[in-house]
Amino acid sequence: MGESALRQKFHGINPDLVPRKSLHTGATMPAIGMGTFGSDHVRAEQVAEAVKGAAAVGHRHFDCASVYGNEREIGFALQEIIRGGVRREDLWITSKLWNDKHAEEDVIPQCRKTLADLQLQYLDLYLIHWPFPNHHPPGCDVASRNPNAKPYIHESYMKTWRQMEELVDMGLVRHIGTSNMTIPKLQLVLRDARIRPAVNEMELHPHFQQPELFDFVQKNGLVPVGYSPIGSPGRPERDRTPEDTSPTEDPVIIQIAKRHGVHPAAVCVKWAAQRGQVPIPFSVNPRNYLANLRAVVEDPLTAEEMKLIASLDRNCRLIKGQVFLWKEGQSWEALWDMDGQITPS
Ligand SMILES: NC(=O)c1ccc[n+]([C@@H]2O[C@H](COP(=O)([O-])OP(=O)(O)OC[C@H]3O[C@@H](n4cnc5c(N)ncnc54)[C@H](OP(=O)(O)O)[C@@H]3O)[C@@H](O)[C@H]2O)c1
Repeated sequence: MGESALRQKFHGINPDLVPRKSLHTGATMPAIGMGTFGSDHVRAEQVAEAVKGAAAVGHRHFDCASVYGNEREIGFALQEIIRGGVRREDLWITSKLWNDKHAEEDVIPQCRKTLADLQLQYLDLYLIHWPFPNHHPPGCDVASRNPNAKPYIHESYMKTWRQMEELVDMGLVRHIGTSNMTIPKLQLVLRDARIRPAVNEMELHPHFQQPELFDFVQKNGLVPVGYSPIGSPGRPERDRTPEDTSPTEDPVIIQIAKRHGVHPAAVCVKWAAQRGQVPIPFSVNPRNYLANLRAVVEDPLTAEEMKLIASLDRNCRLIKGQVFLWKEGQSWEALWDMDGQITPS
């Protein structure tokens, strides 16, 4: 069955109706993507199946990463999508360099590995996944520390960034970007980059709005890409603490959802897209990934609802990154430069 026939069969959305965000190169990206991190419990094959299903209902933007352990399976899905009639240039594929591959000699080979796994000639966007070169095995306990762990060292980060720039020069990657950064780290990167980051991927949802970083990113011409836009209800146990709150259980979000006749998750997605970030919700449920796409093309929130949601911020970071800490006894806040300065080593 052809691509548009499939879309009709599944009552999908015409991808031409999905809003787009402009990047500093003049290129545009779909204003919503689909996440592909199975949070250690959704199998690679299931995620790949969801990628195919999502493309069939009109998704064109997929947020991948080598550390999610499913790029090979997603590669077969992308092949099928392209064989089904979707042009490569109509897809937006992001991937990310993992923390054990920051060494200068590792960046290009690792990107080539991702390209081979995804069965692509180029990536639309390649991110440095975290600003710390601190590897930990997938699924490890939050208390585990890599004995060779290091803090953010700008000179080292820029060595990695130079290789990212090289990837653009080589035509393997169209845009490069950062993830899990802070204002003081981004200031240094923006000062020293030959090729500017096109996006910063960061946690963003109604209970964690990061207004300062969000404004900084936008003012500097980067697109904010918002991860865990629904509050990551499926995140691994190791990423949960008793203080965490859930935006989809917020009474205000529930009330707005009732008014629009949608799930609270769809309200989070609408708010994200209308605020100006690019949400990348994960889902393997066809009803949900279609609802997320639908959320950005129809029935927008009112200005009053947007204002109400702006007032719900609780500064509640869910993905704290404990495993990247470099010293015993440190608290996760050290990763996030809370006082506006890069936390010293
Ligand atoms: N750069 C980074 O460091 C970083 C960090 C974390 C995440 N990410 C990226 O961001 C993506 C999204 O974040 P996330 O996976 O943490 O969390 P999320 O997108 O906030 O939440 C995903 C969860 O929400 C459920 N869901 C999705 N749409 C729904 C809907 N319409 N109605 C009801 N439930 C819905 C999904 O369940 P079902 O599957 O049952 O629908 C899934 O359990 C990741 O997959 C990954 O690509 C990047």
